[in-house]
Amino acid sequence: MVMLRRLKRLIRQAAPDLAERIRPAARVVLERIRPAASERASQRELLSALEGIPYWEDKIARYKNYEYQSASGTWAFPSAPIAPPIELFSVDRVNYGCGGTILKDWLNVDLFPFDNPDYRMVNLLEKHPFADNSVSFGYSEDMLEHLTQAQSIFLIAEIYRTLKPGGVMRFSFPGLEGVLNRHYTPPTDLRIREGEFEAYSFWDHVHFYSKEELFLIAKHIGFSSVDFCLFGESEHEPLRGRETRTHQVDLNTCVELTK
Ligand SMILES: C[S@@+](CC[C@H](N)C(=O)[O-])C[C@H]1O[C@@H](n2cnc3c(N)ncnc32)[C@H](O)[C@@H]1O
Repeated sequence: MVMLRRLKRLIRQAAPDLAERIRPAARVVLERIRPAASERASQRELLSALEGIPYWEDKIARYKNYEYQSASGTWAFPSAPIAPPIELFSVDRVNYGCGGTILKDWLNVDLFPFDNPDYRMVNLLEKHPFADNSVSFGYSEDMLEHLTQAQSIFLIAEIYRTLKPGGVMRFSFPGLEGVLNRHYTPPTDLRIREGEFEAYSFWDHVHFYSKEELFLIAKHIGFSSVDFCLFGESEHEPLRGRETRTHQVDLNTCVELTK
């Protein structure tokens, strides 16, 4: 996409007439890849369809065709039939982005297929399959840093919607403060370059929350309290001793968000 944007800018600068001539042709191509008016798209499907459209005017025009259907968490043309609501799971504790850490008596969710009664395959960047105000405790270790800021705002908002009032969500993740200390200190030319590999690209990390930023977003979404905690420590028994990465004690931020 970055390359495409650069190419567009170059064409506009070098030959404005050419840009105008190319545009209608690009539109014809796009018409072909547009869905039929009866189609619907999930949040991720619509985002990825919009990403494939080079001009922002066309992205917005495409987006305006859809209406949001909350029960299914999908976007649909107004002429499309109403999508059935998503299937809901009744659960009290959820381990979000569990990887290989399957917690007993919790529902563990991640993106991969795995046959285990305590596990469900769920894309956490789509509407979560839990009713509003239904989950008591949530936990997520080393997942937030794999999401863009926009994706993590979506995730945190879904967790807020599905937590019970008084319910608590605990996140543990490499925080910006720890990352700067571990990977960017002292901030020499060399450390800055090494830091980019060590902190981001080796692990496919895309965004590190600072405490201030997480506080701002959690409060904006509606959490009544945001409590930063020590590694492994919690006032809530189900959330105590959950962190597994002892080599990240000085890297990770642990926080509990109460609805
Ligand atoms: C670094 S791993 C951490 C796994 C585990 N929590 C742990 O501490 O070992 C991040 C996990 O988040 C999961 N994940 C990332 N995006 C996700 C999504 N959209 N929905 C569900 N899981 C996701 C990944 O599949 C991966 O298993």
